[in-house]
Amino acid sequence: MVTTLQHDAGMLVYKMNKSVPVFLFLKRREGWLDITKGHIKNGEGKAEAALREALEESGLNLAGSIDRYFRCSTVYEIDAGKGKKEEKELTVFIAEVGSAAKVIISNEHTGYAWMSYRDALDAIKSGWQIGVLQCAYEYIMRKARMSELNAEYSSLPSSISPWNLSRVFVPGEGPLNAKVMFVGQAPGAQEDAERRPFIGRSGQLLSALIRSSGLKREDTYITSVVQFFPPKNRIPTDKEISACRSFLHRQIDIIKPRLVVLLGAVAAKEVLGIKSISSVHGTMLEKDGVSYFLSLHPAAAVRIKSNMPKIEEDFRNLGKQISSMGLQDA
Ligand code: URA
Repeated sequence: MVTTLQHDAGMLVYKMNKSVPVFLFLKRREGWLDITKGHIKNGEGKAEAALREALEESGLNLAGSIDRYFRCSTVYEIDAGKGKKEEKELTVFIAEVGSAAKVIISNEHTGYAWMSYRDALDAIKSGWQIGVLQCAYEYIMRKARMSELNAEYSSLPSSISPWNLSRVFVPGEGPLNAKVMFVGQAPGAQEDAERRPFIGRSGQLLSALIRSSGLKREDTYITSVVQFFPPKNRIPTDKEISACRSFLHRQIDIIKPRLVVLLGAVAAKEVLGIKSISSVHGTMLEKDGVSYFLSLHPAAAVRIKSNMPKIEEDFRNLGKQISSMGLQDA
């Protein structure tokens, strides 16, 4: 007999060794390998519980290194005695530590090992652990590619002369395995000051529109065609767009979203070669196996009030697409 369902939270801790992750596994008395994990206490959040368990079981304080976006949910069974099984729902987070991180195990475990992905796959036995490890490994490899891309992209101003955009790079934001990706035009002054995309007035409208379409902003990836502020909010030139081109396409390739939402004329022209957004916004298009949705840019509705009902209608249509593609669950 199986009784459900207790909620646990865990942390897969890793460090990078020559661009490859090695994972922390703890040895249980029973002989098998485990990640740091345990029961979520009353009133505790999942991430909070995962951090507490990691500290108790490995001595590692991971509050500053837990990945803001990654989570993997699974279910596993334990033997509850007297022939009974108990099912536990487990949410796993990831956290990267430095090479010098010092592990101090508790008396719940008899030892620990840092293991490569391949070695860990050979050593662990249960299906849920394999699933979690695969999911985390795949995410960490995307993360490594994205941080390489961001480092390269942020140094663009020093390799192009003259450079007429801000020199501040505004990275894309969101889970690297997001199913839905939003592509805007270029950061504004507030984004430039805070180095985050879509946080000004257009950004606040975008967040509300995303919510109205049935998604949560934090489950989507948000970026722009050009990731440097064009002074006075001017439209980026063809030359500037072309200098940034490969970086946008590489981001799409890393995230591999099921749906790319192009916000406004610059994104629609850059990605799909569309000359005028006014007759096609609110519609879907497929190209090279990727699904695109076209929308007005939120700034157009912030600046010109008569565009507000149009963009709301775009996002109502987007909401229908999202539910027909089953994309509402992160
Ligand atoms: N508008 C954009 O197109 N991108 C941003 O990041 C912010 C505003």
